[in-house]
This record gives sequence, C-alpha cells and structure tokens, in this order.
Amino acid sequence: MSKKRSIRIGLLGFGVVGQGVWKNIEKNRLALEYRLGTQLEITQVVVKDASKAREVLVPSGSYSEDPARVVDNPAIDIVCELMGGTSKALELTRRALEQGKIVVTANKALICEHGEELFEIARRNGGHYFYEASVAGGIPIIKTIREALVANRFKLIFGILNGTSNYILTRMEREGLSFDATLGDARKLGYVEADEALDLDGIDAAHKAVILAYLAHGKWVKLEEIICEGIREITGEDIEIAGQLGYKIKLLAVIARDFEANKLSVRLHPALISKKEVIAGVDEVYNGVSVTGDVVGTTVLIGRGAGQDATSSSVISDIADAVFMLQGGASAVISEEDEATHQILADGLELALGDELIGRYYLRIYVRDEEGVLAKISDILAKEHISFATVNQKELEDGTAKLMVTTHMSSEAAITRAIALLNGESSVIGAPVSFRIFDPGN
Ligand code: NDP
Ligand code: HSE
Repeated sequence: MSKKRSIRIGLLGFGVVGQGVWKNIEKNRLALEYRLGTQLEITQVVVKDASKAREVLVPSGSYSEDPARVVDNPAIDIVCELMGGTSKALELTRRALEQGKIVVTANKALICEHGEELFEIARRNGGHYFYEASVAGGIPIIKTIREALVANRFKLIFGILNGTSNYILTRMEREGLSFDATLGDARKLGYVEADEALDLDGIDAAHKAVILAYLAHGKWVKLEEIICEGIREITGEDIEIAGQLGYKIKLLAVIARDFEANKLSVRLHPALISKKEVIAGVDEVYNGVSVTGDVVGTTVLIGRGAGQDATSSSVISDIADAVFMLQGGASAVISEEDEATHQILADGLELALGDELIGRYYLRIYVRDEEGVLAKISDILAKEHISFATVNQKELEDGTAKLMVTTHMSSEAAITRAIALLNGESSVIGAPVSFRIFDPGN
C-alpha cells in the first residue's frame, strides 16, 4: 500500500481530552507530520451541544452535533471516541468498527464493560481499536506491556491508576485537608470524571485494572467479580498513623498471577505501602505502574495519569499507530486483538477469590474507653489467629477511644470473620475499618 498523503480524523467529543488532541496536534504539527510522513487533518468534530463556548476554536464547517458525520463518513480514516459513557459511545464505536474503521479511545469504562465485544467486531471487520489513553493517562503502559515487554510473562502488575484519588490523598497527607476540600480543585484541573463516584469509589481505577489484566493475561474479568474499594473511608489520622509506621496510603490496583496454580488476582483497594517502594512516592495527579516480568524483572513507569495534555499525548500516540497501520505498516503494531494469543495467555486461568488473599492488615476500631477493652479485642483477633504487630490508642474526649492496629500475616477470610465478631462486641462502637498492607514481595 502506498503512503496516504493526508489522514483524516474525526473527533467524537470535544471536551477536556478532545480539545487537548486538537490543541496539541496544532502545537506540534510540523514535527508530528514529519515523523509520520503524512499530513493530519481533523475534518469533523462532534459535540452534544454545539452552542457551548470552548477554549479551543475550530472552523465552523467541521463542527456539528451529528455523529454520523464522523462514524458513517467514508472520508474519515480515524475515529476518536472522546465522549465518555457507555451507551452512546458504545453504539457509535460499534457502528464505526462494523464499517472496518480504526477507532481510538480514552474510554476505559467502555472497554472494561464491552471490550470483549468491541475487539471482536474490530477483528471481524478488519478495523482496529486503540486505547492507550484509557489507562494511566499519559503513561504509555499499553504499548509497554503489548510491545516493549512482549518477551515477558507478568507475575505482578500493580500501581496507582487514578489521578484524582491520588491527588486527594496527597493533599490530605501534606496539608491535613479532608478529601471534600481537595475535590473541588481536582475538578477545576479537569481530572474528575463527570460521575465523581467513578474516581472516589475506585471504579475508574478498577476499569483500568481490568484492561491491564486482559492485556497481560488474556482474560476478561468482570468488575463485579473483583474487590473494588475507594478512598472515602480513609481519614487524615489513618494517613498519619500509617506515616509513623513507615507507610503511605495509596489507592492500588493489583494484578497478580500465580503461574503454578494458574490463578489471577485482580483487585483495587486502598492499601498501606512501605515508603521505600517507588510507587509509594508517586504523588499528586501522577500515576505509577510497576510491572514485573519474568524476563525483564521490575520496571516502573510514572507520569501524569489524568488531565488534558497528558491524556491527549496518549491519544495522539494511538493516532500515530493508526497512521502507520493505514500506511501499510500493520506489523509495527502487535495486535492485542489476536484471539489465539489471548487464548494461550489465559489457558485454564482462574480468578482468585478475595478470601484467598494472605497479608497484613491495618484496622481502625472505635471502642468504649473502659477496663479490659484491649484484652477483649485481642481475644477476638486471637480466635481467628490474628496477632497484633503494632497498637496505637488515642483517647477521645467523649469517653471513647480509637484503636489503630496493624496485624501480622493473616488470611483475608480470618480478617472478615474477626470484623464480624468485633461488630457484635458491646465495647466496639460502629463498624471497624480495615485496609490491606500491600507488600509486592509477598
Ligand atoms: P468531557 O466531559 O470533558 O467531554 C466529553 C465530550 O463529549 C464533550 O465535548 C461532549 O459534548 C461530548 N459528548 C458527550 N456525549 C455526547 C453525545 N451523546 N453526542 C455527542 N457528543 C457528546 O470528557 P473528557 O474529555 O474529560 O473525557 C473524555 C473521555 O476520556 C472519557 O471516556 C474519559 O473517561 C476519558 N479520559 C479522560 C481523562 C481526563 O483527564 N479528563 C483522562 C483519561 C481518559 P459537549 O461538550 O457539547 O457537552
Ligand atoms: N478521572 C480519571 C483519573 C481520569 O482521575 O485518573 C484519567 O483516567
């Protein structure tokens, strides 16, 4: 196939990311086109409300509320779905892929929920579905796993995959603020999803963990099947005590494969992690992913996980791959859509249950400040063979006390049973809170 002189791009969505794509293609057009050996033209931009004021202005002829001008337009080579959501975006992505088009997306929710179907449609119709921007914003984690680390099998991938929650936790730690106080700033910076529960309840990062699990292990895991917990339960005091014990609290995605048992654990939850770990030092809106391959060892990637410029950098990188593909260089892009490869990766692979986890735990328990209360708590934990590693008690003014303990190694099942027992104990007030302590060496 000869090189196309000009590649035509249509944008579905012109919000934070869409405008970033336009702005940054314009900014670096000369170098980009030189590298790609072709001209890039964004000929159509589709929005929901064309009357809305935008920071980036585009020629009025290319601007509309009609997705057909992108999706069903034979003159469009690359469709960028940057609208978000899982209904209209699903319908339009399906339609574009059914016509054999190349679709570039940043929509992790859509891939997590419908990726299996969408990759299949792409495969069947000769199209392609690119999604670098869907995980970890500007960090090239998809390409790294798919291409740069292709020689490896991945025992452990873990890290911080949500910029908003990391930004909130960082400011809580540094400035002693509540997360409500920092959420507004995260919104102003364009990090937060329209439905902010996606960020605060861990769902957005879980979507990304599901995508990485598929990419690395060929298995589509359902969100309902995995542990997914957000940051709302974390208090400034938890962060402070964790800090005194040598830990930070981070919202971690963990994708761990036991090759002997052929089990895969995919989970997303807050965790105490030693300050000595590189990932613990990843603060603010930054994301960090630690990838341990059996050939390369451990590689850590850190970068901006959200925001206009970082995300559009990844979208433009996918546009570049799409251009290479349109120019006949399909071999330059190793296809993650290859079904046979994924069947081999996922052969017989089973999902590990949350209860099978073994590790150390942090517990926060409110108690009546009365004689023998510590012994009662200790007895309950002992029944489940859980022993204290550290105990921190804070007396409160209303005759109650706050116990913050860390445990030695225990099973998650035992912790769950112990918490149920604590709930039934008259000296305990409210429900105890527990966080896992994550040690990548375990
Ligand atoms: P925005 O809400 O800023 O922009 C969404 C755009 O899509 C808007 O221009 C909106 O139109 C348009 N749109 C929404 N629904 C429709 C529809 N039915 N028909 C036509 N246009 C529609 O979102 P973002 O740019 O922040 O996010 C886009 C995608 O990128 C999402 O999937 C998000 O999860 C993902 N992403 C975002 C990151 C970020 O930092 N913001 C980082 C990584 C991924 P209008 O403007 O008229 O309302
Ligand atoms: N809301 C997401 C985050 C955007 O904060 O990480 C990037 O996917």
